[in-house]
Amino acid sequence: MLKIHVLGAAAGGGFPQWNCNCLHCTAIRSGSPDYRARTQSSIAVSGNHTDWLLFNASPDILQQLREFPALQPARALRDTAIRAVFLIDAQIDHTTGLYMLREHREPLQIWCHAWVREDLTHGNPLFNLLRHYCGVEWHELPLEGDGFAIPAVPGIMFHALPLISNAPPYSPHRDQPQPGDNVGVTLTDLQTGKKLFYAPGLGQMEPHVWAAMQAADCVLVDGTLWRDDEMIALGASRKTSRAMGHLPLSGPGGMLEWLEQLPQRTRKVLIHINNTNPILNERSPERQELTRRGIEVSYDGMEIEL
Ligand code: MLT
Ligand code: MN
Ligand code: ZN
Repeated sequence: MLKIHVLGAAAGGGFPQWNCNCLHCTAIRSGSPDYRARTQSSIAVSGNHTDWLLFNASPDILQQLREFPALQPARALRDTAIRAVFLIDAQIDHTTGLYMLREHREPLQIWCHAWVREDLTHGNPLFNLLRHYCGVEWHELPLEGDGFAIPAVPGIMFHALPLISNAPPYSPHRDQPQPGDNVGVTLTDLQTGKKLFYAPGLGQMEPHVWAAMQAADCVLVDGTLWRDDEMIALGASRKTSRAMGHLPLSGPGGMLEWLEQLPQRTRKVLIHINNTNPILNERSPERQELTRRGIEVSYDGMEIEL
C-alpha cells in the first residue's frame, strides 16, 4: 500500500510567512482557532513503509523530520529512512533543505531533470557545495517511456511528465519554460495498482497532464492561490498566479473547474497553499466551497493511503 505523508503543505514562505502581515498571517499569529500553521512544500512516500522517498527538500525539513518519527528508524548511530530525494523543480522552497541533509553518510541519491540539475549547479550551485559534505549522486529523470523504478524505494512505479509552471528567478529559463524545468509525477503502487498524481506547481492544464489526472485515484495538486490577481490586489507582487506558474483555484479555467470534471471517486487534495489564500481560513466561504465540491486542503502531518 502506497503511503503518502504530507511534510509541508504551504507554498514558499510557509504559513505564517515571517515578514507577512496579511489577514491570514496576522490572524494565526494572534491565535485564531480558524487556522493551522503549515511548513513549506514537501511530501514523503513509501511503498513498503520502511524505505521513504522525499519529494522536494523544504527549508523547514528539520522541523518536518522531527514531527515524523518514521523517517528516523534509529538502526545505527547515524541513520535515516530517507533513501532518495525527488526534486520536481529547482525552486528555493523545494531544494534548500538539501543543505540540512549534508551530514548524510553517503552521497544523497537525487532524482531530477537535467534542467533542474543545471540550475542547482549554476544559478544556485547547491550540488557543488554539497560536494564538500556528503556529495550528490544524480539520477536523470526520464520524461518518456513506460515509467521507472527507484530501486531504493521498492513497490512503486514512477511516471514523470513535463508541465508548464515556472523555473526559479536564477534560472535562464525563468518565464521561458523548457520541458523538464517543472514536472508532475504519477506514482503507481505495484501491489494495489492505485495511482497518485502529484503536482504542487501546475500553471497550465495541458492534455497530457489532464490525462494523468483523470487516470489517478488521488490528485495532490497546486492550490497556491485562490485568485489569479491575488498578490496584485494585495500589493504583494506584480505577477498573476498564472505568471508565477500556478493555476489559480477560482475563475474560468481555474483548478476548481478542472477538479469538477474528475470522477466522483477521485480523491482531490490541494497542496502548496500560499499564506494569502483564503482557503487557509477553515471558516471562510472559499473553504466551504471546497468542502461542497469534495476537495480537501492538505496540512502538515496529513496521511493518504492508496
Ligand atoms: C513558487 O512556487 O512559485 C516559488 O516557490 C516561489 C518562491 O520562490 O517562494
Ligand atoms: Mn513553490
Ligand atoms: Zn500572509
